[in-house]
Amino acid sequence: MTEPRKLYVRSFGCQMNVYDAQRMTDTLAGHGYVETDTADDADLVILNTCHIREKAAEKVYSELGRLRKSQEEAGRRQMVAVAGCVAQAEGAEILKRARSVDLVVGPQSYHKLPELIAQAEARGSNRRAGIVETEFPVEDKFDFLPPPSRAAIAKRGPTAFVTVQEGCDKFCTFCVVPYTRGAEVSRPVARILDEVIRLADGGVREVTLIGQNVNGYHGVDAGGRDVGLAELVRRVAQIPGIARVRYTTSHPRDMDDDLIAAHRDMPALMPYLHLPVQSGSNRILAAMNRRHDRELFFAIVEKVRAARPDIAFSSDFIVGFPGETDEDFADTMDLVEKVGFAGAFSFKYSSRPGTPAASMDGQVPEDVKSARIHALQALLDRQKAAFDAACRGRRFEILLEKPGRFPGQLIGRSPYLQSVVVEAPVEAIGTLALVDVREVSTKSLSGDIIGGEFFAGNVGEKRSARQSEKVEA
Ligand code: SAH
Ligand code: SF4
Ligand code: F3S
Repeated sequence: MTEPRKLYVRSFGCQMNVYDAQRMTDTLAGHGYVETDTADDADLVILNTCHIREKAAEKVYSELGRLRKSQEEAGRRQMVAVAGCVAQAEGAEILKRARSVDLVVGPQSYHKLPELIAQAEARGSNRRAGIVETEFPVEDKFDFLPPPSRAAIAKRGPTAFVTVQEGCDKFCTFCVVPYTRGAEVSRPVARILDEVIRLADGGVREVTLIGQNVNGYHGVDAGGRDVGLAELVRRVAQIPGIARVRYTTSHPRDMDDDLIAAHRDMPALMPYLHLPVQSGSNRILAAMNRRHDRELFFAIVEKVRAARPDIAFSSDFIVGFPGETDEDFADTMDLVEKVGFAGAFSFKYSSRPGTPAASMDGQVPEDVKSARIHALQALLDRQKAAFDAACRGRRFEILLEKPGRFPGQLIGRSPYLQSVVVEAPVEAIGTLALVDVREVSTKSLSGDIIGGEFFAGNVGEKRSARQSEKVEA
């Protein structure tokens, strides 16, 4: 038998890339590759890249430079592939800028990795002839991707991402995703359910259904019926073993009443909703082609809160979009004040080649962007700290995910994705524990386990009757 070859995949960017990296690893596992934790001892290095902002896109070149240097120092040759959204956006340009790259493969073509690697190997050290595969293929990559092995599922822990929808048709004027990922496509319901059944069988308890515009999901089920995200969530939550469901990223325009009702009716749907708004100014929202105004956003927040009173929101913001005035920015601050977020990502607008906003008048100077992002982040940080502080004394169900820093500790996640440190044995990983939150710090919560699936017999009278019902249901 030939020795297994070592594979190192590094992902940048969003959850779709994390998922894709796992599927690349699963694909190559069938061709004799085993995963390794460092680039240094890998035979094949895949950089799974992100093009969303200039800084993210440039990271790949610094990483390629570093790789090249360590290869030279060690006097060894590794095969290097650039995958993901920079691969799609820049294609052959990458080969010109970084000669150490053997292979460039876009996000819709990575099911072809084994044959592309074989082609690259056949070309040997003739690096001028690097391979580029960035067509959007007619076939669906998902039809060709092998499922993960049980060992791979177990290694990845009790939470998993599942891509249910790819691409985006929204064309926000600042955004590269419609170009790098292509048109919006929803995977068929049966395929998704099969994938989740397999994950649950391997010990997964929480799935996050992902897509760039996930609440635009419309897949067909076995009976040829059109199924929206709310119905998909319901079906996923019924799979034995699955205790929690999340979805991300959603667009305000696609928060329909059925999905809002799912937040009311389904305890397994976690009460934490990432709903990017980008700006609080109607003028800027229109220029961004977001297809909604601030009033619609407020209305959705209100409806979701009415359906699920313990819901918390997170969001994405861009400051310094072309034409953004002090007044527009004040509208964003005002929206944040009015809604109150438990978490958020905020970015300075980054001009992206080929997008409509890149050639708009009124590009905002860097120092103005910096001042605005500081003010916005200070406000969002205060809101997050206040939300976390208010969790002291609350009782949460925590999914125990992994060992903590010190022996005897585990780290789990609250319904709001906060890290929670508890004392528990490693055997409890993958179970739900009922935790009274005692301490809150900037990075995590900590608390005492008072019951739960693993601890049912161990904590005697403290165990809550409600909890035991839930666990058995
Ligand atoms: N599909 C999601 C987000 C995709 S990208 C949505 O519609 O909200 C993730 C985030 O990156 C975006 O929400 C936006 O806040 C940010 N982003 C995208 N393009 C950007 C750009 N050109 N400059 C700065 N931030 C950007
Ligand atoms: Fe980009 Fe807009 Fe699509 Fe989100 S909805 S991926 S921001 S184009
Ligand atoms: Fe980045 Fe592509 Fe995701 S551009 S954010 S990796 S879809």
